[in-house]
Amino acid sequence: MTGGAGFIGSHLVDRLVDQGDDVTVLDDFSTGRRSNIRDHAERDTVRIIEGTILDEALVETLADGCDRVFHLAAAVGVAHIIANPLGSIQVNSRGTENVLTACAHHERKVLIASSSEVYGRGGQVPMHEDDDRILGSTVIPRWSYATAKALDEHLLLAHAAQGLRGVIVRYFNIYGPRMDPQGYGSVMATFLRQALTREPLTVYGDGLQTRCFTYIDDCIDGTMLAMELPSAEGQVFNVGNAATETAIAELARRVIETTGSPSSIVHETYESHFGKGFEDTRRRVPSAARASEGLGWTARVDLDAGLRRTLESWEQQDSG
Ligand SMILES: NC(=O)c1ccc[n+]([C@@H]2O[C@H](COP(=O)([O-])OP(=O)(O)OC[C@H]3O[C@@H](n4cnc5c(N)ncnc54)[C@H](O)[C@@H]3O)[C@@H](O)[C@H]2O)c1
Repeated sequence: MTGGAGFIGSHLVDRLVDQGDDVTVLDDFSTGRRSNIRDHAERDTVRIIEGTILDEALVETLADGCDRVFHLAAAVGVAHIIANPLGSIQVNSRGTENVLTACAHHERKVLIASSSEVYGRGGQVPMHEDDDRILGSTVIPRWSYATAKALDEHLLLAHAAQGLRGVIVRYFNIYGPRMDPQGYGSVMATFLRQALTREPLTVYGDGLQTRCFTYIDDCIDGTMLAMELPSAEGQVFNVGNAATETAIAELARRVIETTGSPSSIVHETYESHFGKGFEDTRRRVPSAARASEGLGWTARVDLDAGLRRTLESWEQQDSG
């Protein structure tokens, strides 16, 4: 697995270990943390390799030694992409190309983690996997992430047309234990951190922009089904909780309520944080139909339950 020390990857490692699999993790620990996979460090069945997916030879060798590959490593988060556009594009395009080339060469089944960002500004909701994508200009750096992820999808599908067994999942705002409290643009992590440190919660714009927050356990269930079902090969699936469409201002209120924080909510302009010309997606809602029909998967954890579980885990981390 690439990116196995990250937020989502580390939960996937847990699941694979639980079901008795041997796991090799390739991670450069740029945003991933050793503490996320600490429980597995001493296990014979988990091999942790510090290295980059940009290292073609390493990726080739590791793919050869696996029977299937979950590719989650990426430069993630709008803030990260804006701060380091070139490095992010290279990791998210060339890195994925290396992984897919190696999987094709060694005939290994592969799943790649794509993103709801590929829909861009989104013309309509809910977003169906085959909908048109509406992206802003190339002079707006944030769209490079969506573009690179879309290229990754094209690459996988092109390899699939030549026989590679592969599947694509598009994640929608995944949250839960082990989200980086410093955040990399994850609004949920940022709000929780602000609430717990009694700082004001910063809402950009009018706060009426919406997202569908998807709890990590649901995300891992969807990911495993996509990898395991032969009928899913060659397809793209939204992995998102369509029932949790929540305005960002409302999320701020829910976080304050759940944490019992005395924090206030302040509104700031997008420009104040992301610089001039930032463009956001107003509503982002997955169509759940394909995942439901094709994978038998529907998200189960509602926002309040997910928030409570996330908060509990953060409190345990602090006291542990
Ligand atoms: N979290 C979300 O809501 C979300 C939404 C859409 C898509 N995704 C995708 O899911 C995947 C996992 O995201 P996450 O939220 O767990 O983020 P994360 O930052 O916690 O995980 C990414 C992991 O990749 C590693 N990595 C980065 N560059 C690398 C490189 N060059 N070589 C090897 N390892 C490298 C990082 O160290 C980290 O462990 C990513 O592909 C991301 O684009 C996540």
